[in-house]
Amino acid sequence: MSAVTEPRPARVREMFGGIARRYDLMNTIMTGGLHHRWRRLAVAAAAPAPGDRALDVCSGTGDLAFALEGKVGPSGAVVGVDFSRRMLAVAKQKAHRRGSGVEFQWGDATDLDFEDDSFDVVTVGFGVRNIPRLQRAFAEMARVTRPGGRVVCLEITRPERQPFRGFYGIWFDRLVPAVGRAVSRHGSAYAYLPQSVRRFPPAPELARVMEDAGLADVHYRLLAGGIIAIHRGLA
Ligand SMILES: C[S@@+](CC[C@H](N)C(=O)[O-])C[C@H]1O[C@@H](n2cnc3c(N)ncnc32)[C@H](O)[C@@H]1O
Repeated sequence: MSAVTEPRPARVREMFGGIARRYDLMNTIMTGGLHHRWRRLAVAAAAPAPGDRALDVCSGTGDLAFALEGKVGPSGAVVGVDFSRRMLAVAKQKAHRRGSGVEFQWGDATDLDFEDDSFDVVTVGFGVRNIPRLQRAFAEMARVTRPGGRVVCLEITRPERQPFRGFYGIWFDRLVPAVGRAVSRHGSAYAYLPQSVRRFPPAPELARVMEDAGLADVHYRLLAGGIIAIHRGLA
């Protein structure tokens, strides 16, 4: 097993910048297209209503933000924040092509540039496992969400039970890095992926981190045999 080290923000930013153009394609290959369904379920857990203000943190190429936009409608507003300018550039191009009104802006998840209680709903998808100051990131999400608003986290997690545990070992530790090397010049980014999940707290512990960050009534559900977790807490 390779050494498990904390991700350095500058390294994480550089790595995601390097894979920004291929990110959507890789996502689809590596999840067999299932990531669209997982995002829909995450948005359903956040339960945005027409007219709501929603924030998507670590927004990357913007797919979760676009899914939120579909729910808040033209009377609502969605902001997507990321600290990789190259990811943001791809997200903005996609927004332009789709005629989307999502506002993508630079920002750090551990220091959000918004007033307290600015949003009804905040989501983060496949983002927090890259953040060393995890509790700080959730505290920021809780701060910018209005009381009673929802904070939802969609993330990869390690399954506890066989046979999924065995399958996961093959898929994530071997297949994902191999496909990454084949499809992208930035193969090391995909070797980083399994490391980032190994270091990340399992679902029950993540729920406790969210509670310690000030979120109430934190619940989670596991998908895809325990490979994916959706956590939801109330601000
Ligand atoms: C795996 S991608 C996920 C993108 C998108 N949310 C999705 O569901 O496909 C992780 C993203 O988190 C961003 N990120 C990581 N740490 C961050 C931080 N501290 N603040 C803002 N963005 C961050 C990266 O730049 C990258 O775009």
